[in-house]
Amino acid sequence: METGSTIVGLGRYAPERTLANHDLARMVDTTDGWIRRHTGIEERRIAAAHEASSDLAYGAAREALEAAGTGPSDVDLIIVGTATPDMPFPNVSCLLQDRLGARSIGCLDVSCACSSFVYGLSVAHGAIVSGQADTVLVVGTDTLSRITNWRDRSTCVLFGDAAGAAVLRPAKPGSGFLSFALGGSGQGRHHLHLKAGGSRHPASHETVARGEHFLWMNGPEVYKFAVQTMPRAAADALRRARLAPDDVDFVIPHQANLRIIHSVSARLGVPMEKFFVNVQRYGNTSAASIPVALYEAVGAGRVSPGDVGVMVAFGAGYTWGACTIRWGGAA
Ligand code: UT7
Repeated sequence: METGSTIVGLGRYAPERTLANHDLARMVDTTDGWIRRHTGIEERRIAAAHEASSDLAYGAAREALEAAGTGPSDVDLIIVGTATPDMPFPNVSCLLQDRLGARSIGCLDVSCACSSFVYGLSVAHGAIVSGQADTVLVVGTDTLSRITNWRDRSTCVLFGDAAGAAVLRPAKPGSGFLSFALGGSGQGRHHLHLKAGGSRHPASHETVARGEHFLWMNGPEVYKFAVQTMPRAAADALRRARLAPDDVDFVIPHQANLRIIHSVSARLGVPMEKFFVNVQRYGNTSAASIPVALYEAVGAGRVSPGDVGVMVAFGAGYTWGACTIRWGGAA
């Protein structure tokens, strides 16, 4: 690629309230041991009553812009990945643009569930290399606690709330993002969805009585899909960048379940030491999971300039996406 794009700043916002496994064991028929054994999760963050996805996004975006040494007035495009917008419309990116005091720039939401951040990075990269934008803000934000059925033990132990943000700018050739591999298949729509509240099943007393305003998931089916698809997507992104698993210095996987991450490591042929894992402290934060993990990996010194990394996600749709990056290299 002639011109590239790279990440020049990262930010994170995590709500203050922590909900530990033993708190959940008082709410539904579960145990700390079961949750740890089946998922690796120990605790998750829950948004305060006054916080919505755009508020979480704002906290992460402010930190990312500051880390990038830039301000809202420099941003040319805002992309927000979320499955839990403040409301069906206007989109979260417009709410964020206003709150940040950014110029009247392009504002786009990406709805690919847990894959949204990787999809957002891909759109941002395209905007930069095509010359449409110089500075792009990409945010993954979700408040899944608002669509969780707190009486369903098979789902309520899995999720948490957070936001992560990245600022992208042009990169020197050979640096920054090296490849993207995106995929989707509506065949998976029956296994993970929120049924009501859209044009197919508008919200009504009946849909609420049936609990159709909550996320519904067939966990074992989604698990099978994840362990097959994530390694394939990561391998595809590596192939497109002409890289081999041995070239990889760090992997930022979607943080859904520790067992899934172990399986991806084995199938991809990249050792677990290279995977960054924080699912134990956040649970699955959907679109926020990869940027929050990347933020923490960089903060922990696990990522250095010139390192080759892979980010890989899967989610409802089904959707999936992976990308490779050579860290640093801003033009
Ligand atoms: O971002 C994408 C989001 N989705 C995912 O990543 C989820 C992918 N799936 C998974 O991570 C796993 O399938 C789960 C963690 C959701 C479930 O783990 P599992 O090992 O697949 O368990 P299971 O659903 O097969 O259930 C095993 C047993 C069942 O009891 P019986 O039928 O064997 O008596 C469940 O009722 O565990 C029971 N169970 C629980 N027990 C205690 C299900 N949830 C719980 C719970 N506490 N929270």
